[in-house]
Amino acid sequence: MRIEVIFLNCHILLFIKMDKSNYITVEEAIKKGSGKVNLRGWVYRIRMSNKFVFIVLRDQSDIIQCVVKKDIDKKLFDEASKLTMESSIKLSGEIKKDDRAPTGYEVNVKNLEIVQIAEPFPITKDFSTEFLLDNRHLWLRSRKLNAILKIRHTVVGAIHEFFRKNGYYEFDAPIFQPSMCEGGSTLFEVKYFKDKVYLSQSWQLYAEAGIFSLGKIYNMGPTFRAEKSKTSRHLSEFWMAEMEAAWMQLDEVTQVAKDEVRYILQQVLKHNKKELQILKRDITLLERYAKVKYPTIKYKEALNILNKKYNMNVPWGKDLRTIEEEKIAEHFKSPVVVTHYPTEIMGFYKPPSKENPKEALCFDMLAPEGYCEIVGGSERSLMVDDMIKRLKAEGEDPSTYDWYFDLRKYGSVPHSGYGLGVERVVAWICGIDNIKDAIPFPRTMLRKTP
Ligand code: 4AD
Ligand code: MG
Repeated sequence: MRIEVIFLNCHILLFIKMDKSNYITVEEAIKKGSGKVNLRGWVYRIRMSNKFVFIVLRDQSDIIQCVVKKDIDKKLFDEASKLTMESSIKLSGEIKKDDRAPTGYEVNVKNLEIVQIAEPFPITKDFSTEFLLDNRHLWLRSRKLNAILKIRHTVVGAIHEFFRKNGYYEFDAPIFQPSMCEGGSTLFEVKYFKDKVYLSQSWQLYAEAGIFSLGKIYNMGPTFRAEKSKTSRHLSEFWMAEMEAAWMQLDEVTQVAKDEVRYILQQVLKHNKKELQILKRDITLLERYAKVKYPTIKYKEALNILNKKYNMNVPWGKDLRTIEEEKIAEHFKSPVVVTHYPTEIMGFYKPPSKENPKEALCFDMLAPEGYCEIVGGSERSLMVDDMIKRLKAEGEDPSTYDWYFDLRKYGSVPHSGYGLGVERVVAWICGIDNIKDAIPFPRTMLRKTP
């Protein structure tokens, strides 16, 4: 710590400068490339011989090899020999280019301060999925998770930017909700004083009230689904980015979804090339997705492709399963929007089309490479009687939706919206095989700790 006293117009200003101002990140040190550097972080790897200690130092930004030589400083060498994986340290030394080092540079260590010697780190041999999930609080430090979390940060930032740049207001809805939006079977029930409520399955119904004040709105927030499925694409707690806009119809709202996804891809390509390389993601594919036009097809055209080109036998009226969504996206080799799913298998708020009431004015966006549905949305029904009928058929009590039906009484207008699954998009962009790695602490049917 350095104390600086500055005399200014007879006032004495006391500055306490913490020594932190002297430290730079590993990434900054590599950029500097030569001269003296002060670094601090954790021992990512350590290797010792009777002449050298090689420490690979890790911080939030990168890793770098640091070497301590016995013949130059025996005391320093003895100190460094005590280090274990994940010990916390501060060091200073000379950085220089070295093509043999993992990130192309090496620090010749002159001073070392051990902050804490770590106990034997649990993650050394067992890299099985369940073990890493049990130790998620420690596995977050891995290069893989560090890279994914940085990409997630860009995705979340890009979503806010996209909507704010395009004139949308951020609007919040309650997490405790009295009724369902996306089907009763995936509701989480919560005790609420002497009553019960449900954790939010979607921001949508409240957003439909918000648009009458703010016109175009968006939100990104935690969303809950008691998914009984144990797939690599379902979480029970995930983040959904949703938008809702007055006056908007199906063709416009699908265009917004396409523009949003493209903007997210562009931002990740701009900011996260290094992380994509760490994840060994095929960047040329992402560049393609950021450029090409995404097609829109109707559900019935999707069936045609599946049945004719892929010899499948999907009858009209059935929801597309993962395997079918995979084929459709594979067919186009880019994100693809599918509209007009059968009304009878869609949620109560998705309106039948006027031309053919068997088809609903709704859409999904499917991502290629097996990632499937990343966005779901629709126009919103304005037909109260039809919605009441459909809610009853689902075993719901329509009276809990009275406030929602009010929105169709006082200056009702056509409107539309959609939700994008943040983890689905992160998993796709990162090219990872399980959605659980797209969120810091995943929650699924079988996982609620740590
Ligand atoms: O298709 P969904 O269920 O649509 C809605 O909830 C609408 N109310 C949204 C709206 O119109 N405002 O969910 C939207 C997206 C899906 O396309 C998917 O990407 C993601 O949310 N999603 C999940 N992600 C992870 N785990 C789950 N269990 C998910 N369920 C949906
Ligand atoms: Mg959906």
